[in-house]
Amino acid sequence: MGSVLLVHPDWKWREKIKVQSKESASFRPLLCSSLLEAREVIGNALIPLDGIYLPVNDGRSSLFEFLEFCLTNRPVTPVFLLDQPDASFLKSIRIKGVFPQDTTFSTLVGALRASTPEEATDSEVRPIPSGVRSGFIAIPTLDFRSSSTYPADVFIHHQDGSMNLFSSKGSPVDRRYLEQAEKFSHWLYMSDLQHREAREEIRNAKLARYDLGGISEPWLKSELFAEARQVLGTIRKEMPTDPLIRRAHGFLYSLFRYLNRLDRSGNAPRMIEFLHEAAETDRALQSLTLSLLLCGHFRFEKTAIVEILCLACMLQDISLIHSPFGNISELLPDAIPPEAKNFYHRHPLHSADLLASSTTLGQTTLQVIRQHHETKDRKGFPNRIGGSQLHPMAEVLSMINQYLIIRDTASSPSEILDLLNRVVFPRYSQEMTRAMASVLLKTGKIDSF
Ligand SMILES: [Fe+2]
Repeated sequence: MGSVLLVHPDWKWREKIKVQSKESASFRPLLCSSLLEAREVIGNALIPLDGIYLPVNDGRSSLFEFLEFCLTNRPVTPVFLLDQPDASFLKSIRIKGVFPQDTTFSTLVGALRASTPEEATDSEVRPIPSGVRSGFIAIPTLDFRSSSTYPADVFIHHQDGSMNLFSSKGSPVDRRYLEQAEKFSHWLYMSDLQHREAREEIRNAKLARYDLGGISEPWLKSELFAEARQVLGTIRKEMPTDPLIRRAHGFLYSLFRYLNRLDRSGNAPRMIEFLHEAAETDRALQSLTLSLLLCGHFRFEKTAIVEILCLACMLQDISLIHSPFGNISELLPDAIPPEAKNFYHRHPLHSADLLASSTTLGQTTLQVIRQHHETKDRKGFPNRIGGSQLHPMAEVLSMINQYLIIRDTASSPSEILDLLNRVVFPRYSQEMTRAMASVLLKTGKIDSF
């Protein structure tokens, strides 16, 4: 008997499926209440899965991340959606079907081709791929048994070392042919390139949602804030890892597109409102927004903005969050306890070291993190780097950090203006201060310079 994974937050729904599944002997249901719980099942390579059923009733972008996770761990297992009345935006990605909430278990699994009872056993374990074939990923033949068609070109590896096309994308899965193949190998292979393309399709579908005219601006904004809370909350709870960085990427691209659109529309009140709500949501979201707005004044490439500046902005104080003195990232420099002063002074280096050991973040992003408190006049810390050695994106971050400190300590807008002109701006390049002044004027943070 095969197994299907069904994810739904409503326990009544899960109970109903449990009862209905007893009447249908074709598949065993594995029921999870959340995407997080489901990740553990999908990520366990030993559990065979014939189909995955996901809820999307909150329409959140997390679904796209989850689809990417499914694709990484189960490249060919059919994925179906539950509860989505309008899934038109999902057409471009690897969704096999969409079912309404009240669909019965037998109809849900009817979309799969059931194994016949005599050929399947209850104690089936999925084999873990052994041996690496360069340019290909191995997929157990077991994963294809419930599919009606091959979702990608698949190859078979012969004993003489050759890799031959077994079946092309879209052609029907012939069960007998598959069984013949199983006598020689428990694996079929998919090219890395096709796998990457499939992941790209999911990312593009997610980005395209932010261009849909039909989606209202408040809805997009609330999605962004919900995502920001999740991503920033996870960064504060866990040590950063590559999957977390990938998740942050997705969120940052969405924020980039949203702010670009808002900035281009020239709607100043909406931009002011966004910044105000960003500040209420999370201080890190506010510095991200300011960084992105400042970038509009320079010729930075989009990828560099997101993958260097925004990631550095999000992760710059990671060593203060996970410091030996607890989370001291929210404290103003003057409030840092004396025993933590030395650690604070070197935190840009500690953050870069921590990220270098736990992730594969690029060297430039790490360099910007090391320099996020350095200044153009070489009076910053920890290494008094300045002049042309200071990376322009580190200068952006450093100036925003300085601005946020004086904004939090000054007692009035006129004092902020005075401190900016007297203390902050002389430490940075003219080009940078001009851009900052323009952003602060536009966003209503300062009304004159
Ligand atoms: Fe910092």
